Amino acid sequence: MAEKLKVVGLSKTYLVDQGTPYAKEIPALENVTLTVSSGEFVTIIGPSGCGKSTFLMIVAGLIPKTTGEIFIDGRPVTGPGLDRGVVFQEFALFPWMTVEENICFGLEMKGIPRKERQEIARRYIDLVGLRGFEYAYPFRLSGGMKQRVAVARALAYEPAVLLMDEPFGQLDAQTRGQLQKMLNDIWERTRTTVLFVTHNIREAIYLADRVVVFSERPGRVVEEVVVDLPRPRDPWSERFFTYQRKVADALGGEQAGFF
Ligand SMILES: Nc1ncnc2c1ncn2[C@@H]1O[C@H](COP(=O)(O)OP(=O)(O)O)[C@@H](O)[C@H]1O
Ligand SMILES: [Mg+2]
Repeated sequence: MAEKLKVVGLSKTYLVDQGTPYAKEIPALENVTLTVSSGEFVTIIGPSGCGKSTFLMIVAGLIPKTTGEIFIDGRPVTGPGLDRGVVFQEFALFPWMTVEENICFGLEMKGIPRKERQEIARRYIDLVGLRGFEYAYPFRLSGGMKQRVAVARALAYEPAVLLMDEPFGQLDAQTRGQLQKMLNDIWERTRTTVLFVTHNIREAIYLADRVVVFSERPGRVVEEVVVDLPRPRDPWSERFFTYQRKVADALGGEQAGFF
């Protein structure tokens, strides 16, 4: 499979309180090398504070790296771009726009004509199960519905790479499960290249072709686990459980609080 995203030797050190007596350096990532193939779904898992969001923000082009290289389709990434779609944990919808307008926004930036924008938006609204809410404003939607819109918006303009940072992290367990299933179903149809960050082991295994395990800060790749299970995964199967154990062990196991 073709290489879609390639990250080589990425490090990040935050400089805090520079120019004061309290100046210090916080190493957040150390020499991370990672490739994602075209059409692959990769999850990154690691303990809280290990640099997962930092990694995703750098790949998104939203914050600068300290060292390393990032390529999408062989071209170096130097800043934000429409080749990447981003979904964050917080609900980042425009509150003054309806569901449909929120989804159309990115399409407009891409220069797609109005009529076509609306058709695409409707298609993705259907896909995430929100038919009937086209004209609703975000304040009328539940947390789960808002994240459905965020997923639809990111997918609608067909980014080369979809970056997701714990998008379901603030949802209750049942809603989270519903959205995981929805994302799996949509991904099976679209085969978008996805890089998905989580600290939830079951979520990582349920969604991924490959789970990349980060160490504690500064984040380094400690293990990569290829998940060879048919989709949709059965989270109650013995093989799923075996993968859970493998990822938990790579994270430091019971001692690190993963059980
Ligand atoms: N803007 C910043 N300035 C200084 N330190 C930061 C900044 N953002 C994150 N950090 C630190 O970098 C480390 C990694 O943070 P983050 O990438 O948010 O981790 P994760 O998403 O895995 O929880 C943490 O110790 C955090 O406190
Ligand atoms: Mg984070």
